[in-house]
Amino acid sequence: MENCGGEEYLFKIVVIGDSAVGKSNLLSRYARNEFNPNSKATIGVEFQTQVMEIDGKEVKAQIWDTAGQERFRAVTSAYYRGAVGALIVYDISRRLTFDNVARWLEELKMHADSNVVKMLVGNKSDLEHIREVPVEDGRKLAESEGLFFIETSALDNTNVMPAFQIVVREIY
Ligand code: GTP
Ligand code: MG
Repeated sequence: MENCGGEEYLFKIVVIGDSAVGKSNLLSRYARNEFNPNSKATIGVEFQTQVMEIDGKEVKAQIWDTAGQERFRAVTSAYYRGAVGALIVYDISRRLTFDNVARWLEELKMHADSNVVKMLVGNKSDLEHIREVPVEDGRKLAESEGLFFIETSALDNTNVMPAFQIVVREIY
């Protein structure tokens, strides 16, 4: 946590998970209420600063989004440096992206502070008809790993605000 003077705080939050799980769209939905059905894979790192109010105090969340694809990823340690929150995202319609959450948690453990607030996010809840990951599996993993858990849809804007807000509130 970085104190910017006065009543302001700046929190760095990282968004991680396999390619195409919807990380960039969760961020664009949250920050600008935009969804892109044809979004391209992220190359390197992008970030957005979002101002929010918690208990009457202004809080700034700097949300970092990187490539899920190994070959497009920037220097890992720099990405995680100073992060106080993390969203670990999978796609409920692709089991492999859920199985890979363990890897992302491992990377987080290697590079981030041990008390970073973690939220497991099962995205694309609108794809119920082709769901491969039961809600219960997400819930159980979160419980055993000590993570918050939420299912979201960047497409239909379900639970996107809470996914970020719960993390920021917990940090704060
Ligand atoms: P990388 O940048 O490669 O790591 O991928 P990403 O995790 O940032 O995925 P991105 O946000 O680019 O989304 C990948 C694809 O999934 C795009 O076609 C999006 O339109 C789609 N998508 C993202 N979120 C949702 C969602 O909630 N529901 C559905 N149905 N599609 C989504
Ligand atoms: Mg992306």
